[in-house]
Amino acid sequence: MNIDKLSKRLETVASFIKPDMRIADIGSDHAYLPCYAVNQGLAKAAIAGEVVEGPYQSAYNQVKEAELSDRIAVRKGNGLAVVNQGEVDCIIIAGMGGALITDILENGKQKLVEVQRLILQPNVAAEKVRKWLLDNNWQLSDERLIEEDGKYYEILVADRDKNKIQYTNLKKELLLGPYLLNSKDEVFHRKWRSELNQWKIILNELDKAESNEKTAIKKRDLIEKISIVEEALS
Ligand SMILES: C[S@@+](CC[C@H](N)C(=O)[O-])C[C@H]1O[C@@H](n2cnc3c(N)ncnc32)[C@H](O)[C@@H]1O
Repeated sequence: MNIDKLSKRLETVASFIKPDMRIADIGSDHAYLPCYAVNQGLAKAAIAGEVVEGPYQSAYNQVKEAELSDRIAVRKGNGLAVVNQGEVDCIIIAGMGGALITDILENGKQKLVEVQRLILQPNVAAEKVRKWLLDNNWQLSDERLIEEDGKYYEILVADRDKNKIQYTNLKKELLLGPYLLNSKDEVFHRKWRSELNQWKIILNELDKAESNEKTAIKKRDLIEKISIVEEALS
């Protein structure tokens, strides 16, 4: 991967940037995504945000080496602290867990006031991100599920100015994704069959473990999710 050729995961993320948007890539690490987006003319300008010194330095060096320092600002800081209100149209947060992505959005809410689009790629717990979007008046406008190197990645796109999406079975749609459920392609079947297998192994272990309130709640949650996914795959 380099700034001319991204991974399939990051290329899919970049494909949702609307023309002429100013973007912020939070947790940018090597800054491949903002360099690619600006270089390819997908974004007008970018901020690469990083909280950890090592990745911040590699982002800084990458942008300098690519001679893009006049259009990409590399900033060190936690989450949306690196962005000023009104400075960007689109925020990208990729390659983190769903809980961390929602924490970053929740803690930086005031920075989102003038943002039009969020492109979010949670490695796990995408349902937490969908729930946060719903609770915070962001309309999910597209989703992709891709497989790369044996791993599955969900990419969620949300816009401010879209019509409200009508959920018919909230639990199921938050877990599996309303758009992904609509298409239910081969990758969808493979991902959820693999999740089902893992959940059944965990359930089996919980059955053998000493029962207490915590394990009972976990079992109930797993049984419910297994039933939702089995129904969706049938
Ligand atoms: C696994 S990497 C993903 C890098 C890149 N976004 C991608 O998708 O390939 C996650 C990066 O997010 C950074 N990070 C984690 N929490 C952060 C936060 N609260 N604010 C900014 N960056 C954060 C980490 O230091 C790390 O470099």
